Amino acid sequence: MKSVLLSLVILLTSFVMGFCVEKTHMTEFKPGAIWLDTEGKPINAHGGGVIFADGNFYWYGEHKIWGKSEAQKADGGIHAYKSKDLMNWEDLGVVLSVDYDNPDSHIAYGCILERPKVIYCARTKKYMAYFKLYEKGKGYDTAYLGVAQADSPEGPFKYSHRVLCAAAQKGTGDFFLFVDGNGDLWHLAVRKPDKAFCLTKFDEEYKTPIDSSVKVLEGIPLKTEAPAGFFKDGKFFLLGSGSSGWAPNTARLLKANSIFGPFEFLGNPTSGVNPINKLGPDKTFGGQSSFIIKHPTKDLYIAMFDIWTPEHPIEGKYIWLPITFDADGTPKIVWRNSWKIE
Ligand code: DGJ
Repeated sequence: MKSVLLSLVILLTSFVMGFCVEKTHMTEFKPGAIWLDTEGKPINAHGGGVIFADGNFYWYGEHKIWGKSEAQKADGGIHAYKSKDLMNWEDLGVVLSVDYDNPDSHIAYGCILERPKVIYCARTKKYMAYFKLYEKGKGYDTAYLGVAQADSPEGPFKYSHRVLCAAAQKGTGDFFLFVDGNGDLWHLAVRKPDKAFCLTKFDEEYKTPIDSSVKVLEGIPLKTEAPAGFFKDGKFFLLGSGSSGWAPNTARLLKANSIFGPFEFLGNPTSGVNPINKLGPDKTFGGQSSFIIKHPTKDLYIAMFDIWTPEHPIEGKYIWLPITFDADGTPKIVWRNSWKIE
């Protein structure tokens, strides 16, 4: 009798608890507001990018460690989320962790691991993750590109190696990756220390930069950070920012006929004001670009930005806004308090 009663109590408790767990369902995008995952936890995927694979969207970003400031080493690896609609994200957890056990690892805890982007390599059938990687204890000195790989978009990713792009001994900063029609991978980033914007082709398996392919791109202002590119109507557009650490600055937009340039400077594409922080176009609503999502079935381009909060990086917010196009095809990014995918 006692055990029947106990089972009943357990059953009832689990039933009640099942109802109490907060499930979140988003019906619109709310740029700049706290964005909860499907379990009601704030999304922790900063400086990220999104891919579409097997009918799902995957968002990969920097996992920031709770309670640590940037100065106290907040980078914990790559955190992934999965979604059908780009608004409601299921937490897949940390798919590449920094190494807490081996202080000699390239990705030992204390390293800087930023701006992860995932690309599928059809030749090897691997999901390749790339990220800015600075060695533990060296600050923002040599900027490697870290490489990890997985068999599935859900991970886990295994750290593979690090490379220096743009044939630069000090490496490269924030980057944009692009796979061309031949299936070749290209890396676009600012070169250190001269801050020229460079293009580098990778080898067949997307593992090693080819030094002889490096080209300085004409028309991109020096110190362009946070590049996020997309193609539309035969033009290549590159959205980026200036360089001011974690503090927001003015967005910049460039246009070319291909990733090889030459680039034409189109100025600042943003307008409107973020009412949460009162920041407008001169400060990119308080954000910095990280990626542009091309919707796989709609004529929709979404610009992703991060609002960095270096004292409490885990509390950084996201701004996702649709890109609109003027009659002459010029991209514009207008602030919206909320919006939906039509
Ligand atoms: C701006 C970059 O875009 C970020 O990823 C980060 O590296 C900060 N600078 C560091 O100051």
